[in-house]
Parts: sequence; C-alpha cells; structure tokens
Amino acid sequence: MSQILTLRRPDDMHLHLRDGAMLAAVAPESARDFARAIIMPNLVPPVVTGVQAAAYRDRILAALPDGAAFEPLMTLYLTEGTDPADIAAAAASGLVKAVKLYPAGATTNSHGGVRDLAKVMPVLEKMAEIGLPLCTHGEVTTPEVDIFDREAVFIDTVLDPLRRRIPELRVVMEHITTKEGVAYAASGDNLAATITTHHLILNRNHILVGGIKPHYYCLPVAKREKHRLALRNAATSGDARYFLGTDSAPHIDALKEHACGCAGCFTATNTMPLLAHVFEEDGALDRLEAFTSLNGATFYGLPLSEARLTLEKTDTPVIFPEKILSGAGPVTVFDPGFAVHWRVRA
Ligand code: NCD
Ligand code: ZN
Repeated sequence: MSQILTLRRPDDMHLHLRDGAMLAAVAPESARDFARAIIMPNLVPPVVTGVQAAAYRDRILAALPDGAAFEPLMTLYLTEGTDPADIAAAAASGLVKAVKLYPAGATTNSHGGVRDLAKVMPVLEKMAEIGLPLCTHGEVTTPEVDIFDREAVFIDTVLDPLRRRIPELRVVMEHITTKEGVAYAASGDNLAATITTHHLILNRNHILVGGIKPHYYCLPVAKREKHRLALRNAATSGDARYFLGTDSAPHIDALKEHACGCAGCFTATNTMPLLAHVFEEDGALDRLEAFTSLNGATFYGLPLSEARLTLEKTDTPVIFPEKILSGAGPVTVFDPGFAVHWRVRA
C-alpha cells in the first residue's frame, strides 16, 4: 500500500514571482501546491510603496488559474527613501506583511537597496512599534569579505548590532545557509529564519565538482556540507523558529547558462515532493507540516490554512517537468540529482 501524508496546505514564506510573461508562467506553479506566499519585492523597478504593492498584488491575482486558492502576501522593498508613514499605512490596511532589507548589491535587483542602515532607522523603529517584520537578505557586500563568509559576517556586524539597538523589531533571517545562521536564529526573541528546499539538498561541491552547474547557483551560495547538515537538523527539528521559504527564483535559461549567470534556483514546481524526500530520509516526516504549514503562519500571525495537501509515495521515481516554458524563455526546474518517490496528489 502506498504511503500517504496529508498536511495543512503549505505556505511559502519567501517567493519570487517576477512580473509580466514570467509571472504568468510561474504563478500557477506555486498556486498548485501552496496556500499563501510571502512575495519578494525585487522587481525592476522594485515594489517600494503601498500603491505599488497593491498593483503588483492585482497582477499576481490576474495571473492565477481560475479557481486557484492562493493568497499573495505582499512585502515592500526597503530603500533609504522609504517613508515610515507609507509603510505603517500599508501594514494597517492588511496589504503588506513584511519589509525586505536588501543590502545594496547583495543579490538580483538589489542596487536600490540599503547602503547605510543608519538612514533607515526611523523606518525600522516604526516597524518595531507596529510589529511589522523585517525580512533580511543576510549578506554583507564588502568586497574584502569572502562570498562564503558573507552570511556569518552579516550576523556579527549588521544583524546583531541592529537587534541590540531595536530588540522589539521582529526579524526573519531569510534563506539561511550556515550553522551560524541556524544558531543565531535560535538565540533570542522576535527572531525566526526561513530555509530553502535547495539548501537542504546542495552543498558547494554540488555546484562546482565535475563541471559548473549554473542551475545550482543561487544567493546566498550553498556552503560546506557541515552547514547543509545544520540546516537539515534545524528544518526537521520541528522548532517553531524555522520555516519554509523556497526562495524559488526563476531566471530564463539564457541568463542562467551565461558567462555571468544569474543567481536563483527554480523550485516552485517540485518543492513539496523534494521536502517529503528530505524529511523521510531524516526520519522526520511527522515534522514536515510544522516546517511547511505551521511555523511560518504562526510567526506572521496568520490563521493556519484550513485546506489540505496530500503527498503520496510512489513505487517508481516521479518525473518532474525539466523546464517551464514562459513567454520570456524556458526556465529549468530544480533537479535534485537523485530519484524522488513522492508526488502531490492531484
Ligand atoms: C533571488 C532572485 O533571483 O531574485 N536570487 C537568489 O539567488 N536567491 C534574489 C535573492 O533572494 O537573493
Ligand atoms: Zn529570494
């Protein structure tokens, strides 16, 4: 008899849906399995104001298949010009659930991000006052700091000083990739961390050994095996401070397979089967629901989703689509490099 696992319908607490032709192609991929998602604001130009977030939300809803029950949870992109009053109004209306800090230059479309944290202190103080979470892309951009050390250095030199200055600020450490990130997320109040599907699967050898694998390149870049194992322990622990944020980040193949390839793994299509594989391997299938469907909603103060998603184990390996075809070009679906025996029941 095949094994069945029924969960509350999951939430993806860190998702890139893009815009235009790409949005049209990828929104249905997330809506198929997920109840809600925290939508990243790093469009070109970025989603900076409440008015822009409302318009983007409408474009996302228009891109969903008829009858899809998927709720986009909007965020604003923090800039040195962000107005605390605009953020407070967007949060009070229920439209905006978080603000995203991109250190300028840290990742895709982050050039409009923050250079000097002192300049955004009034915004962060307002957010602390109203309980609006700050989602951090936790990497320093200092050229002297090695790319594999950028997360740990961010924690020591940016995040920890910020939290000492504004302890009431609620912070989500986005897509943590290190044992230092795992430890820091558990070190105090008003703190949580998202973990991606691909960082539970990849270490840096997967990217670089035997030829460079552009579809495994994302930011923060995957680290050594000991860090991957720390992430696995955190995700499968059931601890409420860790929850799923896929960071599914589509780029067309022409820009991934390029001399200067874009960062991002596209995992929206097969995340839930991959997570079932990972949690089963670690003897933690009973804790998958906490990671995907309970902990994130609880941190964000959202009602738990009442719909359900059923995963079933299959005798033969599941074949996922190799690519999603968008009007902008093909997008490669994340290939974990091992056989997967779980699928979402239609
Ligand atoms: C993301 C993107 O492409 O927007 N890329 C990535 O590698 N994760 C940006 C981000 O979350 O860093
Ligand atoms: Zn991201």
